[in-house]
Parts: sequence; C-alpha cells; structure tokens
Amino acid sequence: MSEKISTMIPEEDLDKRIRELGEQISKDYEGQELTVVCILKGAATFACELAKRITVPVIMDYMATSSYGSGTVSTGEVKIKKDLDLPVEGRNVLIVEDIIDSGNTLNYLTSVFKERGVKSIRLCTMLDKPDRREVDVDVDYTGFTIPDAFVVGYGLDYDQKYRNLPFIGVVELS
Ligand code: IMP
Ligand code: MG
Repeated sequence: MSEKISTMIPEEDLDKRIRELGEQISKDYEGQELTVVCILKGAATFACELAKRITVPVIMDYMATSSYGSGTVSTGEVKIKKDLDLPVEGRNVLIVEDIIDSGNTLNYLTSVFKERGVKSIRLCTMLDKPDRREVDVDVDYTGFTIPDAFVVGYGLDYDQKYRNLPFIGVVELS
C-alpha cells in the first residue's frame, strides 16, 4: 500500500495565521506572564512557531497524552504519559494542541489544569475538525477549521511519519 500526500494548507498560510494568533495572544495577555503547555508530540512544531510570535514573557512546558486504542479513531479515554516539569498553580496557562478531533483530550486536560489551581486556562489549537466532536470544548484560539479528513504534517503524524512536512496534507491511501 502506498501513500500519497496532497496539500491542504500550504506553509505560507500556516505562517501567516500563526503570526496573527501570536499577535492576538500577545494582546490578550498584555502585562501578564504565560505558561505555554505544548501537547507532545503533535503540537511541537506549532507551539514553537507560535511561541516565537508571542511578545509577553513565556515559559514553555511539555506534556504527552495518549488516547487508549490505536488507529485513526480515538476511544475517549485519555492518560498523561509525560507530565509537566514545572508547577502551574497561580499561572496563566495556554494549552497548545495540534488538532481537536473528538475533543476528549482537551476536555480531559482542561479539568486536570483546573484542579491544579491555575490562574486562568485557555486553549489554542492549530486545527479544528468540528464534525467529529463528541464532547464540547471551549476553544479560545483556532488556526484553521478543516473538514473531516485525516491530516498530517506540521507535527501531525500517520503511523509516526510525516511530522516533518512543512505544510498540512491529506493522506490518500491507494
Ligand atoms: P481528540 O480526539 O480531540 O482527543 O484528539 C486526539 C489526538 O488525535 C490529537 O491530538 C491528534 O494527536 C490525533 N489526531 C486527531 N485527528 C488527527 C488527524 O487528522 N491526523 C493526525 N492526528 C490526529
Ligand atoms: Mg495530539
């Protein structure tokens, strides 16, 4: 079986949108400090590029989650595989995700952060696939809303491949 990748969002569009999001976030947090929580591995590329465009003081931290089950459909249960290094109590936290699909990951993480006594919690996702939502999530910043397709690139993988692509593409199996 071979895979062909067609471009959905070119690099230039991602770059432009990330600059806009960075400006918006910098305005919204003016005079405050921010902890950017990058959800590994998928959000790594987006979180780094976004953080470069944020002008308020930023602390970067990393967390890895996994949905139980395999394949391209998540099962709804989420577990933390790698936790943050730094405490978030009293901090403004911005969770940065690659994509919201069912919504289970961000729904779960929002409740985890609230229990940890953060000052504020907001969500930023590079991509949103609203057609596939199973639980409601309040997203504060969205890069692009996309149709229900399995996408790769800019951090997103298919079977751990394609994370390094500089654009968002769709896998076509043939
Ligand atoms: P959730 O279903 O909203 O919990 O999303 C769980 C995770 O599934 C995301 O953070 C991604 O890592 C992964 N995922 C969902 N849709 C795609 C996709 O189209 N391509 C690659 N990974 C995806
Ligand atoms: Mg992810």
